[in-house]
Amino acid sequence: MAKRDSFASGLGVLAAMAGSAVGLGNLWRFPYLVGTNGGAAFIIIYLAFVFLLALPIMYSEFIIGRRSQANVFSAYKVLAPGTKWCTVGLIYVLASLFIISFYCVVGGWTINYFWKAITFQFSVADTSVLGSMFNNTVTSSVEPLVYMLIFLGATALIVMAGIKDGIERYTKIMMPVLFIIVVVVAIRSMTLPGAGAGLEFLFKPDFSKVTGNTLLNALGQAFFSLSIGCGTIMTYGSYVNKKENIAGLSAETAITDTTFAIIAGLAIMPAVFAFGISPAEGPGLVFVTLPYIFAQLPFGAFLAILFFFMLFIAAITSSISQLEVIVSYLKEEFNMSRKLAIFLSLAVIVIFGVLCSLSQGTLADVKIFGLNFFDFFDQTSANIFLPLGGFFAVIFVGWKMKKPDVVDEFTSGGTRKLNKFFVNFSYYSIKYLAPIVVAVVLISGLI
Ligand code: PHE
Repeated sequence: MAKRDSFASGLGVLAAMAGSAVGLGNLWRFPYLVGTNGGAAFIIIYLAFVFLLALPIMYSEFIIGRRSQANVFSAYKVLAPGTKWCTVGLIYVLASLFIISFYCVVGGWTINYFWKAITFQFSVADTSVLGSMFNNTVTSSVEPLVYMLIFLGATALIVMAGIKDGIERYTKIMMPVLFIIVVVVAIRSMTLPGAGAGLEFLFKPDFSKVTGNTLLNALGQAFFSLSIGCGTIMTYGSYVNKKENIAGLSAETAITDTTFAIIAGLAIMPAVFAFGISPAEGPGLVFVTLPYIFAQLPFGAFLAILFFFMLFIAAITSSISQLEVIVSYLKEEFNMSRKLAIFLSLAVIVIFGVLCSLSQGTLADVKIFGLNFFDFFDQTSANIFLPLGGFFAVIFVGWKMKKPDVVDEFTSGGTRKLNKFFVNFSYYSIKYLAPIVVAVVLISGLI
């Protein structure tokens, strides 16, 4: 068998992991969920889940991936031969498929908005004009499909180039640029007159509005934003060499992702309140609010171009990780070339993506369990598949693998001299803490 591709450097792994984590989840999904779920209380619950679950689940995915050096399906076959555990791998493949199917639609919107920015279409500072611009953009039946295809094509090209020359090379440059631009937008937003109400919304919790559904949304968002529960980290982990520090890479990824989410909140909410837009606007929030800010700022046109370019970059460094889960599975399980695996994946993704896109307009009335296609793919993946996938990963590492093996992998074959207490603490969070939290929230949320 040909040698498996791998990452060349630790920095490259971090850029790829953080690139996967930071994406539309932080800049588009997080702000609008904060807006529709009541603000600060949602953020606090979200942060609690990140704090309790991010590390145990990331460690587990990493341990399974790196130890097996295989795709999500074979990983379980390698580590638990002759058992049914490998079916869990299929949950990851399905979850990734569901996610990329609506993600590519929003990815297409980002390219569309980038185009609008370079052609100076945001010069009218009027929320109703910008609101209907968003509406027209997403509900029309052909245009969004074209942009979706461009987004998928770009994703496929990077995944085609492989790990070192594709994923690693691009994310390493893109991530830092992205960070700088979001910070600039956040500073501008927080210094707008009237921004204070937005900050209050972000930081002053009202727990009276919290329901089981709020909890489930916060849980789903934590998984979604950190890219955990669908085998992304397992897959990337399988390309990581035996020396890299699992604990460090996981912590750095979680911190980067959370910082981005908070800064995205700071970039959007103060402006939302300053301009009198409803925080519960929904999926259009970023696409309506920010052009409005840009229209009113000196150099706004320039900032708009940078921002939507950045949003596109953030999205693509995530979509490549979703596609890689599916592609590595097809490629290794069915012995196909990378090209064929990508082609087959895309064939299915395009069909699902078209349904998701059309569900914003033409197919708005077609419902599965009361949800249109877009919301169905979004909510089943984030709120059900990802928590389930994460649950099985921690159960596997905590209960199926032997503790010495887990510790061996966690400490990179003993080469990392980690504090004993820290190692045990991590192990028991995998074994008890994470599965209990996920199970309780999942069950209570679904009821
Ligand atoms: N974490 C990505 C984001 O925030 C989305 C994602 C989910 C990527 C699951 C990979 C896997 O946009």
